[in-house]
Amino acid sequence: MAKSRTVFVCSACGDESPKWQGQCPACGAWNTLSALHVAARTEPRARAVAAAGGESAAARSLGAVEAEEAARVPTGSEEFDRVLGGGLVVGSVTLIGGDPGIGKSTLLLQSAAAMAARVPVLYATGEESLRQVGLRARRLGLGDAPLQLLAETTVERVLDAARAGAARVMVVDSIQTMATEAADTSPGSVTQLRESAARLVAHAKSSGTAVLLIGHVTKEGTIAGPRVLEHLVDTVLYFESDVGSRYRVVRAVKNRFGAANEIGVFAMTEQGLKEVKNPSAIFLSRHEQPVAGSLVMVTREGTRPMLVEVQALVDDSRAQNPRRVTVGLEGNRLALLLAVLHRHGGIALHAHDVFVNVVGGVRVGETAADLPAVLAAVSSLENRPLSQELIAFGELGLAGEIRPVPFGEERLREAAKHGFRRAIVPRANAPRKGTSIDGLEVFGVTRLDEALAAAKG
Ligand code: TYD
Ligand code: MG
Repeated sequence: MAKSRTVFVCSACGDESPKWQGQCPACGAWNTLSALHVAARTEPRARAVAAAGGESAAARSLGAVEAEEAARVPTGSEEFDRVLGGGLVVGSVTLIGGDPGIGKSTLLLQSAAAMAARVPVLYATGEESLRQVGLRARRLGLGDAPLQLLAETTVERVLDAARAGAARVMVVDSIQTMATEAADTSPGSVTQLRESAARLVAHAKSSGTAVLLIGHVTKEGTIAGPRVLEHLVDTVLYFESDVGSRYRVVRAVKNRFGAANEIGVFAMTEQGLKEVKNPSAIFLSRHEQPVAGSLVMVTREGTRPMLVEVQALVDDSRAQNPRRVTVGLEGNRLALLLAVLHRHGGIALHAHDVFVNVVGGVRVGETAADLPAVLAAVSSLENRPLSQELIAFGELGLAGEIRPVPFGEERLREAAKHGFRRAIVPRANAPRKGTSIDGLEVFGVTRLDEALAAAKG
């Protein structure tokens, strides 16, 4: 057994010092150091892994390391399983973040109840009373699930309950409400967050329990607390949604056991979260009449293509610095696209406000949105609707060139499947001349001016 020692951890930056000081040597904050008793002289993640035991210091050859597939527990929801990379991995720790009220507790209560039919599951809440959780479970029709519930905020007691109930899956709602007896600071502080999480990770690794942590997010949309929380866990998922929309996208931003950027789509209903199996169908708002500034693109999120509508509004600006606002797209990219549009498309928007929005609360992080965003902006500027049968995707380079994006053919097939007839895409993504994809007429373009001309034709 390693000797216990005391370190002093800064609640502002999380840095450790061997002795107490009035000022944190790392970030300079005053009176932020507090004592923490730890078992070994290692970092939290290393402490967690070390606690898992069995991993001796002697190196082994690659061939001797068993390459076995991680065992997984199905969550009862195909969409949730997909985001996780095919179910919840035994002994893994998953962090789920999202705005208050977006559905984190609902999703995990539903999944916990479904998994409880196979393995012992503990749902520990520091947010709500047992009565509140019980009422919600009943409302969701999960009243009979053999789920173990616990209202508790001390990590050590949560772990005791998990051991007592032989839990194989454990939900902690939320990590910000948890505190460990080993740290002297108040719940919610950086130190508490880090040490509570480290203890839960250690338990997951040593016992093979799958742990799901709910995390609050800050105004900036990242999980509250230090980045170290995201480093400690295996998988980080975020809920995304538009204000007022009933659709919820759960996205994997980090996953040791699956593809990053994989998404699962749900709809919030009276009976909790329901899976959406064909997201392309819901993110397309079909307009009765063609409208200017709207164009459908095919994005590829994780391992599946999805159709989303990109909308632009270009309006005369009175401001000295005209506005460039994006929702669902990267903000900085828009300024770049407008500069390329000016230089290589001959269209100046210096005196215009430009707003670009991806309909339905989906965030598109890939450059395939460049071409549709520019075409939608030009359509809005000229007040000339694009064909409703048209889709586009493609990256725009600084020299005005249209660059290919991955999985072009798969994207085109998805568009054809949903009845689109024309596509403007990078030439390298287009099928060879003369071949068409399921009735889709594809225009392969290499330059921005070609694309602008094709959109008018
Ligand atoms: P919740 O899961 O509590 O959100 P979080 O844990 O992320 O804060 O979701 C709460 C919201 O969802 C609340 O506004 C009510 C709504 N809701 C439904 O519409 N239907 C339902 O069946 C449930 C349980 C919640
Ligand atoms: Mg909640």
